[in-house]
Amino acid sequence: MLQVHGLTKKFGGVAAVDGISFTLSQGTITGLIGPNGAGKTTLFNLIAGMYGPSSGTLSMNGQRIERRRQDERTSLGIGRTFQIPRPFPAMSVVDNVMVASGGQSGERFWRVWTSPRAVAREESDVRARAHDWLRFVGLDHMADQPARTLSGGQRKLLELARVMMVDPRLVLLDEPGAGVAPPLMKVIVDKIRELNARGVTFLIIEHDMDLVMSLCRPILVMAQGKLLMQGSGEEIRRDARVIDAYLGGTAH
Ligand SMILES: Nc1ncnc2c1ncn2[C@@H]1O[C@H](COP(=O)(O)OP(=O)(O)OP(=O)(O)O)[C@@H](O)[C@H]1O
Ligand SMILES: [Mg+2]
Repeated sequence: MLQVHGLTKKFGGVAAVDGISFTLSQGTITGLIGPNGAGKTTLFNLIAGMYGPSSGTLSMNGQRIERRRQDERTSLGIGRTFQIPRPFPAMSVVDNVMVASGGQSGERFWRVWTSPRAVAREESDVRARAHDWLRFVGLDHMADQPARTLSGGQRKLLELARVMMVDPRLVLLDEPGAGVAPPLMKVIVDKIRELNARGVTFLIIEHDMDLVMSLCRPILVMAQGKLLMQGSGEEIRRDARVIDAYLGGTAH
């Protein structure tokens, strides 16, 4: 589904992502782990199109995308969530989900005058879909509350509802378990599994090893901008290079 080849991103001469190559297969839930500062979020930003690479290529279903704009990549089916969710705090939960769909014609200024009914109809469709996704993640009872009232775990669920609004085929989740209490964590894991069963491919950054080991296969390990190895949880657990990277030793 996604092919990454020699991908590199430099910030002021320092390579945050340094010549990474791997392939993501359709239908998988792939994990991405590595110590703080390894370059995981930078790799996500490169795949989602927040910025272009310094060098290297990215292909989605055979199409080169590394120079495509972010919204074009969204249309090609790539969705992502953020490590630190920042919902619009005063806006209602459902409105936060609705704005994620982007591109609805209500935003196209002139159509509000030229075809107000079509705009209103589309808006009510978007609202209905937003409620559907809120129901899916178990947050619909909070739909009319301001987003600032959500707990950390609920914000992560809101992020999941938001990303699903763009109808993604590949979803990049940046630390879905961070700051989430165990009962909600179980909900998040169940929802990821359910979406995966419906055909959504996942790439998940996560520090919680139990979550990664139980949910993800394969798992990619990054350290200092490089891909150290990939394999199953078992293979990773006993790999000396991985242990070394986490203990702060440099990769040999
Ligand atoms: N926009 C930027 N400008 C300059 N340096 C950056 C930028 N973004 C990331 N970096 C640097 O690139 C390196 C990798 O950062 P990144 O956020 O990708 O790591 P990470 O693996 O996601 O870490 P964490 O687990 O802490 O989230 C770090 O040294 C970081 O300081
Ligand atoms: Mg990160």
